[in-house]
Amino acid sequence: MAAARTVSRAFLRSTPATSSIRPAARSARFALPSQGFRASRRGYASEAGEAKSSNTLLWAGLAAAGGAGAYFYLKGGDASVSSKEFVPGKEDYQKVYDAIAHRLANETDYDDGSYGPVLVRLAWHASGTYDKETGTGGSNGATMRFAPESDHGANAGLKHARDFLEPVKAQFPWITYSDLWTLAGACAIQELGGPAIPWRPGRQDKDVAACTPDGRLPDASKDHSHIRDIFYRMGFNDQEIVALVGAHSIGRAHTDRSGFDGPWDFSPTVFTNEFFRLLVEEKWQQRKWNGPKQFTDKSTGTLMMLPADLALTKDKAFRKHVELYAKDSDAFFKDFSEVFVKLLELGVPFTTKAEDRYVFKPSERKTRTMTRSNPTTNDYYEILSLPFTETSTTLSKQQLKTAYHKALLKHHPDKATPDTQPTTPLPTTDLNTRSYTIDEITTAYKTLSDPYLRAEYDRSLRLDRARVAEREKTGTVFHTGLEVVDLEDLAIEEGDEGTVWYRGCRCGDERGFLVTEGDLEREVEHGEIVVGCRGCSLWMKVLFAVEDGEEDT
Ligand code: HEM
Repeated sequence: MAAARTVSRAFLRSTPATSSIRPAARSARFALPSQGFRASRRGYASEAGEAKSSNTLLWAGLAAAGGAGAYFYLKGGDASVSSKEFVPGKEDYQKVYDAIAHRLANETDYDDGSYGPVLVRLAWHASGTYDKETGTGGSNGATMRFAPESDHGANAGLKHARDFLEPVKAQFPWITYSDLWTLAGACAIQELGGPAIPWRPGRQDKDVAACTPDGRLPDASKDHSHIRDIFYRMGFNDQEIVALVGAHSIGRAHTDRSGFDGPWDFSPTVFTNEFFRLLVEEKWQQRKWNGPKQFTDKSTGTLMMLPADLALTKDKAFRKHVELYAKDSDAFFKDFSEVFVKLLELGVPFTTKAEDRYVFKPSERKTRTMTRSNPTTNDYYEILSLPFTETSTTLSKQQLKTAYHKALLKHHPDKATPDTQPTTPLPTTDLNTRSYTIDEITTAYKTLSDPYLRAEYDRSLRLDRARVAEREKTGTVFHTGLEVVDLEDLAIEEGDEGTVWYRGCRCGDERGFLVTEGDLEREVEHGEIVVGCRGCSLWMKVLFAVEDGEEDT
């Protein structure tokens, strides 16, 4: 490959000879994003504990007044020893972010395994009460702490989110609830794989008298004119409304909260543009049930849309944005980030400037590497003899297990029948008769069983197919959203855990694209690796080469 460059000598030196990297070990490590994710969750557990906590600092003075102003703390709990002003800075808010991310990663015994969606809904409902005419409502105040606002029908179930954040508030008593709830919404979007959400502090908690009247949030059973009334009152336009509702790519409706039931897409804990794609591409029919009117997808009968969601496709002015976001995930991520920031800031009397917003570093779990650029060499769906359609279908745990066991049986050297077991390796293009190793089958099973990994995998598969289709059609290579660079174009850093290469992303994450030695080792054979940005949906292909036999002794 002409464009390929030589990997740095440090990599060569610390890497075992290429020939000693066993294929089995490599393919088993393809499952690493998930394992790495869990491992780094554990990493967070110890880090969170080191945040300046109330164990050593006794908080006093202005803490109750809230806001991003000055706070006083007394060292060692003795007022006579010393006292000084405490003005939280970016690193303090990053610690709050880390604590929320840490809880998100650990408190998985809830809904589909994450409190993230309900945190986003809390931030949205706290902010979406804003009325631009009177300047009342909005995230500044956190008045949902009090009845009657906490009892408003639209806020049913949000106690789960508020309670989830209480330990974080106890750990960082200087942050206001209003700042904490909005920061948690931004954190959840990032941690669930969404775009970077720049955020700034400055909200003040208010008392019960500032509670907003009922009826300021949208009613899901209503149509486009109601949606416009509600969101225009906050100051949004049609494009912004559509982008905002795209948050329904995460989470689900609950019969004991809104009365509605079910998730909008197949990966409710991963932020994607799937909500729009399904809105446009699926056929939605009214669900026959003893509940409020809602819609079910014709293909699987497992997903749902609210009447208000479908209203976005019926109104022409809304629909054009739905169609754009359905096919352009990057446009959606960019627009969502901008409008979500706007939502969280409605009516807040900031003393800081917009350019002073913080972009928080997401937890390590969001480092994604897709390790193949040609799915036809190893398609996980083909390995398990499962269908992959452009619209993902639900695969039950049982279906996956059965497919896994069948594949093991079919490809196991001892169990395979003479006609299923090839005696010599078959060309990889002969997919019907190709034999797979146990590692390949297990990796396929693990990836498709994990909602996060499956969503990422499906995305890359679609991208690959689009690229192949484009090449066949035009003879050119499809590079949309996929920048191709050489390894030497990345900055290099030696750390305790080996060498890492990184490069900034358009989304603002300065280390958005991160490649470790382990990633490169795994892809040594291919000489290229496709890396996903940790802060947004963009991808980058990194070309590299290893010089054999250059290992120093
Ligand atoms: C037309 C506007 C909207 C309507 C009618 C609407 C309605 C609903 C309803 C009925 C639910 C189910 C609640 C439950 O039963 O738990 C829900 C959930 C949710 N909504 Fe919306 N929503 C709208 C806009 C938004 C916006 C602007 C956002 C964020 C930017 C958002 C984020 C969410 C999330 C993340 C959930 C899932 C919560 C969970 O899993 O617990 N929604 N929405």
